[in-house]
Amino acid sequence: MITLRAISDVRAAVGAARAQGKTVGFVPTMGAFHDGHLSLMRRARERCGFVIVSLFVNPTQFNDPSDLAAYPRDEAGDALMAAAEGVDLLFAPDARDLYPDGFTTSVVVAGLADVLDGVFRGPSHFRGVTTVVTKLFNIVAPDVAFFGQKDAQQAMIIRRLTRDLDLPIRIEVCPTVRESDGLAMSSRNVRLTAADRVRALALRQALSVAESAIASGNRDGAGIAEAARAAMRERGVEPEYFELVSAETLRPVQPLSGTVLVAVAAHVGPVRLIDNVVVTIPPTS
Ligand code: PAJ
Repeated sequence: MITLRAISDVRAAVGAARAQGKTVGFVPTMGAFHDGHLSLMRRARERCGFVIVSLFVNPTQFNDPSDLAAYPRDEAGDALMAAAEGVDLLFAPDARDLYPDGFTTSVVVAGLADVLDGVFRGPSHFRGVTTVVTKLFNIVAPDVAFFGQKDAQQAMIIRRLTRDLDLPIRIEVCPTVRESDGLAMSSRNVRLTAADRVRALALRQALSVAESAIASGNRDGAGIAEAARAAMRERGVEPEYFELVSAETLRPVQPLSGTVLVAVAAHVGPVRLIDNVVVTIPPTS
């Protein structure tokens, strides 16, 4: 595996791989790798002849400066892990190169980015994500890009972006990887104290409350969300949001029908965590 920082070097390396007839697979990341990231790299390795991973802690998507400052960084460790997964190229650009002086352009996906995390992290968050991902797509020019279901809203927004802007890139969304007790893996989990690590399970448990209610025939999304929020509070976690929305539009569906995204966000100690499950409601006969 090679590590490159210059945009022109990445273009040259991708051009060479393509000239050999290889399919180019791309996994954008902010580093501090865990099994969630590695699962995307593995999938890319299975599917593609040439695999690029980008590692860039994108400042423009952080709405909270202390979150950016505390974001875990370990490029050397990450490079070892990516190499062990058979990644061909690690692209670790400098912020100065991605955002040169006078940078003023941004990419905005209206609608999908205005709900859930778009409300609670503010409009700058997804604007930062969509702008940097568009730039990375233009630099890497992959055939396929891999994203995690853990960030369900982000994956939907990226899908919409590639469709709306006619980018010739297939988006593949891979399942959420969890710890053995159910906590969704996240680079931010390393910042949880032992006590907060236990409380963090409230997110997955609240999702289970909703799954069980739906399985037993309850179709009242608002009522289910209220019960799930109460279950989180019982475990000492105040939900930022807990919502049941259409997995296509991210808007509430009442009564529940079709494919439903059950999404939750909460601060546990200093760390903001998100999680979700997708539930398909059987049609009524
Ligand atoms: P980051 O949080 O590093 O995540 C990189 C990719 O890993 C994303 O597609 C994310 O959904 C996926 N991922 C994270 N945790 C996962 C888990 N437990 N299971 C499966 N996949 C998981 O998401 C970003 O970076 C940034 O917003 C980025 C797209 C790179 C733009 O800066």
